[in-house]
Amino acid sequence: MNSRVEELTLEEKAGLVSGAAFWTTRSVQRAGIPAITMTDGPHGVRMQRQGEDHLGINDSEPATCFPTASSTGSTWNPALLHQMGAALGDESRALDVDILLGPGVNIKRSPLCGRNFEYLSEDPFHAGVLGAAFVQGVQSRGVGSSVKHFAANNQETDRMRIDAQVDERSLREIYFPAFERIVREASPATVMCAYNKVNGTYASQNEWLLTDVLRGDWGFDGYVVSDWGAVVDPVAAVAAGLDLEMPSNGDRSPAAIVAAVRAGTLDEGLLDKAVSRILNVHERIRDSQESGASADFDAHHALARTIAADGAVLLANDGDLLPLSPTEGGQIAVIGEFARTPRYQGAGSSHVNPTRLDDAFTQISALTSRTVEFAPGFSFDGAGDDVLHLDAVDLASRSEVVVLFLGLPDRDESEGFDRTHLLIPDTQRDLLSKIAGVNANVVVVLSNGGIVTLDGVSGVAPAILEMWLAGQASGGAAADIIFGVSEPGGRLAETIPLDLAHTPAHVNWPGENGAVRYGEGLHVGYRWYDATDRPVAFPFGFGLGYTFFSHENLVVTVPDSTVARATVQVTVTNTGDRAGSDVVQVYVTDNAASVVRPVRELKGFEKVRLEPGEARVVSVELDERSFAYWGADGWTVEPGAFTIQVGSHSQNLPLSEVITLDVEAPAAVLDESSTLREWAAHPVGLVVLQGAMTKMGQPADALTNDESLPLFGTMPLRTLLGFAQQSAGASFSVDEVVAQLLAAVKAASGAGESRQ
Ligand code: BGC
Repeated sequence: MNSRVEELTLEEKAGLVSGAAFWTTRSVQRAGIPAITMTDGPHGVRMQRQGEDHLGINDSEPATCFPTASSTGSTWNPALLHQMGAALGDESRALDVDILLGPGVNIKRSPLCGRNFEYLSEDPFHAGVLGAAFVQGVQSRGVGSSVKHFAANNQETDRMRIDAQVDERSLREIYFPAFERIVREASPATVMCAYNKVNGTYASQNEWLLTDVLRGDWGFDGYVVSDWGAVVDPVAAVAAGLDLEMPSNGDRSPAAIVAAVRAGTLDEGLLDKAVSRILNVHERIRDSQESGASADFDAHHALARTIAADGAVLLANDGDLLPLSPTEGGQIAVIGEFARTPRYQGAGSSHVNPTRLDDAFTQISALTSRTVEFAPGFSFDGAGDDVLHLDAVDLASRSEVVVLFLGLPDRDESEGFDRTHLLIPDTQRDLLSKIAGVNANVVVVLSNGGIVTLDGVSGVAPAILEMWLAGQASGGAAADIIFGVSEPGGRLAETIPLDLAHTPAHVNWPGENGAVRYGEGLHVGYRWYDATDRPVAFPFGFGLGYTFFSHENLVVTVPDSTVARATVQVTVTNTGDRAGSDVVQVYVTDNAASVVRPVRELKGFEKVRLEPGEARVVSVELDERSFAYWGADGWTVEPGAFTIQVGSHSQNLPLSEVITLDVEAPAAVLDESSTLREWAAHPVGLVVLQGAMTKMGQPADALTNDESLPLFGTMPLRTLLGFAQQSAGASFSVDEVVAQLLAAVKAASGAGESRQ
């Protein structure tokens, strides 16, 4: 307990767990407790000195708008995320911000989520590794991070009150692990709870979520802040483990908390704990802050450009159309309003006021001595597009190559609402088809946060470059890639399906009557497409580069087969004639699981940059969690064979090795409703059961022989005994007999029988 807590009055404590204003906490001057400032996040510092709002409406101080998570997630580059976090930390300090609200690590459950641009991945391991690096970067500069939105905030529809109904196993294996990894590896200052309910209880009032799981299971030692306006009942929130309600609602919440403590309906000890956690974190942040904070905005603009290129995914490059020569060749037509008016960030609370803004047309012109001409091609509102199409097609017909900027307009995706389709607007696809009719050399460059299905683009344009919403330097990064100054370094963090109807959450989206059922369970993203054998347009992990790589000599070492650990080594060689980076991806399959498990799951990856001809041995460690599922007794690894697959994306895994783990089998536990088959499969249960049969003058295997077992195996033993009692007219108590048998099993098994 923080020693300051006992100096404080009840009123002061109740004040400290509720904000002072939109972005600040309360101070207690008498006790020397200062206020701190927090702000969004995640890809830029949105510091508002006046006109505060959490919807991205009013302006904020200029700050670097880094690529959004749609782009940073696609980098597969934790080192770069760390650098970006550190830069954000510096800018936060320069703008007097103590806690930056990000990263967003909710899983991209459906591509329709309007806020997918702010989330890193459809895969929990991937989101966790990148998120942890980001948090470590931010916090290395004396600024706290706030990991959001905990938990199961995977849609915008009805987000303030929808009940996300998710089975525990899917929470533990899909929706929690990114938070868990970040908590364990990066000790974030705060975790932000979600608006929605999780299995019937608001996240802000969910004791299981905030206290049992977050603190009990994972050892979180920071504090939980509410999403802005997420608290419905401030007293229930403190009781459940929420520490700080944001923003302020005046004296309403503090007064309710004081009244509840006085009335004896809220334990003051719980309030003390919340205050203590807040004070501890704020002291820790202040202690780590060095004086004289400054930020190098020029360097950050350059870093934003590097990250944007590293997250850009080259989806197609037929005939090696890209990169273009900067010096040789005829006219380049740059077409599309996005090339002049970039779409580089999403709308809502993450909206940043950029320090400057690169447009692609200017940047392309700056990098080449070839003639470059621009035509808008379409407008964002569709007005007058017929004429714009004509001009653009004319330009295309007079040019050697066309670089066509397409994408989603702002109104199609945002915080606050979900998307209704995955298509690029008709006018843009129509324009592409007309341009492709007059010029075969079309490079499409895309700007969108969530994925688009590429209907009318794939197969029409020979080259497709997905830039995402890539921040204030995205125009420069696109130009770098187009001319080969940078390579497209990105790999998909979200599967691109062939059709919306193929997506995992399709029949459970976005819910009804206040609830959304996560009916697809564990099968999110590539797990779904793999399990249902459904073809996709572009698989998870996919992305082309400008060079080629070979993967050879896979060696999987298991130092001790009774422990679930392995080291995966593979030699990567750059077989092309340019430098470039490759993402080695490692997937694990449980070959003979007793429960449903995904076909394969990403459990390791490493991005390596190699010169032409250079080779390197990449080493990836697999830990116990790499093999485990969430079972009735917690994380469980079953003994047996596991296949380790290695390759360049989730559907190109040419190298594989099978390993065998001799870990102890999870102890089966018999109870009152165990079936005959479960008794027969239990080593001690079988002996006890057979002994009982002998005592009753029956053959020992009367129930467990090859005829009885298939017939009666699925019946609980007590039901079977009940039938036997009825037909024999016997007077024994079925419940007593079952209890005696269970006691005999327990006695014979000793301590080994207990659940871990
Ligand atoms: C968003 C959060 C954000 C907060 C403060 C909320 O509407 O969901 O992500 O941090 O506002 O702006």
